[in-house]
Amino acid sequence: MRPDRIGGGAEAEVREAEYLGRRAVCKVRLPKRYRHPDLDARIRQSRTRAEARLIREARRAGARTPVIYDIDVAGCAITMERVEGRLVKDVLDSGGDDEALCASIGRAIAMIHDAGICHGDLTTSNMILEEGGRVCLIDFSMGRTSADAEDMGVDLRLLERAFSSAHPGLERSYAALMDAYRRRKRNPEEILRKVEEIKGRGRYT
Ligand SMILES: Nc1ncnc2c1ncn2[C@@H]1O[C@H](COP(=O)(O)OP(=O)(O)OP(=O)(O)O)[C@@H](O)[C@H]1O
Ligand SMILES: [Mg+2]
Repeated sequence: MRPDRIGGGAEAEVREAEYLGRRAVCKVRLPKRYRHPDLDARIRQSRTRAEARLIREARRAGARTPVIYDIDVAGCAITMERVEGRLVKDVLDSGGDDEALCASIGRAIAMIHDAGICHGDLTTSNMILEEGGRVCLIDFSMGRTSADAEDMGVDLRLLERAFSSAHPGLERSYAALMDAYRRRKRNPEEILRKVEEIKGRGRYT
């Protein structure tokens, strides 16, 4: 493993970097050998472009996301601000101040949803709690713009499942998250109905 590697899963590697003297990270999408090389490059390039665009659009919608410094489409790499803080997952695991934290998560999600953006992979490992108490959303690689109520419902359902599996015992915090979401989101009822519908489907299929 590279010594500067700080994260990443099956698709990408995240490395420490520097950009014009600023602390940065570089997220690089790695080649997949099982795909034809030309097709593979096209897929990785278009995902790189899409992720950078979503990170920017989510910021424009008012959510805190990393500042994008540079996009190297050919190299499938995004250089962005290194957000200082702790993963929300680690904060919740160590019993941090969870209700206030969860309320800010709910507001951030409401802001991106109101802008028609779904995140696509809302887990507490894709959120960083900054020193000042702000929550920064990262990892928009599964997200999309022009999201509909179904996409947003899936976002919330996945997050609820992530909470119940990774953070059992934090039901009150999750309720605080949803309460903040409901207060901030325009027409939240439509999305909340979707969440219930999706849950019902899961039960019977
Ligand atoms: N801008 C950033 N600032 C600080 N740390 C970051 C930043 N971006 C990513 N990280 C760290 O790297 C980890 C992995 O990043 P990310 O979630 O974007 O990749 P991933 O989960 O591999 O995504 P993919 O679904 O594309 O494979 C994060 O959990 C976080 O610890
Ligand atoms: Mg991630």
